Amino acid sequence: MTATFTTMTPFGVEAAGVSGDRLADRDAAEECRDALGEHGVVIYRGIGIGDDDLVAFTRLLGEPVVAKTAEHRHPEIDTITLDPSKAGAVLSSYRQGNFLWHIDGATRDLPQKATLLVAREVDPAGGDTEFTNTYLAYEALPEETKAEIGALQVRHSFATAQARVHPDATADERAAWEQVSDKIHPLVWTHRNGRKSLLIGSTAGEVVGMDAAQGQALLTRLLDWATQPRFTLRHQWRRGDLVIWDNTGMLHRALPFEPTSRRLLHRTTLVGEEAVA
Ligand code: OGA
Ligand code: MN
Repeated sequence: MTATFTTMTPFGVEAAGVSGDRLADRDAAEECRDALGEHGVVIYRGIGIGDDDLVAFTRLLGEPVVAKTAEHRHPEIDTITLDPSKAGAVLSSYRQGNFLWHIDGATRDLPQKATLLVAREVDPAGGDTEFTNTYLAYEALPEETKAEIGALQVRHSFATAQARVHPDATADERAAWEQVSDKIHPLVWTHRNGRKSLLIGSTAGEVVGMDAAQGQALLTRLLDWATQPRFTLRHQWRRGDLVIWDNTGMLHRALPFEPTSRRLLHRTTLVGEEAVA
């Protein structure tokens, strides 16, 4: 079954005409991969795909990341909620980090290639998801800035991201964050296809070899640049929406909602296929 794709502004594509129980199909997956490569974000409005088909579709797109947290009967599925009664105290606290611009798996050698989110329960009062396209943001930079940042490297750490949302954390909490290893990546990601994106966001703490305040100022300046409305897409969830994005060239964040919200998303991610170079 083939979908009809309608492009959005400033980027992204909305797919229509395919039902959830028909998406786990080789041709549909190929179409989706192509759309993802070309448009960065693919939205299947109200498709209502079930969890079994979500996992099957993810497998057709690539290799799913298998979680160790046993949140769901499918180990490929993460349950994205802030409600401690559903996700547990520690995980729901970590997921507050989703309110900050980030890429998934920035502290890994290979950040995930793509992320898939399906809305099971939505919050009528908030909780939209925003994307910003860091290929477009990079391309639009002044040439002198491209030259200034072209060879820089940045340290990404889970603790850096968590400290931004939990500034009053205890020493024990901080020690737990430090269990996740840091990773140094180039600031500008040159992809195999020649496109370049910015690897920044909440995990980016320090520019290697630069004075801390100066490095932080540069990262803030680049994040402010990259998150201008002209590079940004906002998705307002309806139950059953499936949204997929190229996690190597988009930053994303959740807009505010109450931690007690019934909002519940099911997430799968694809193992990265390309090291940051
Ligand atoms: C994620 C994430 C954003 C949201 O699940 O990786 O960042 O809007 N979610 O819940
Ligand atoms: Mn995320």
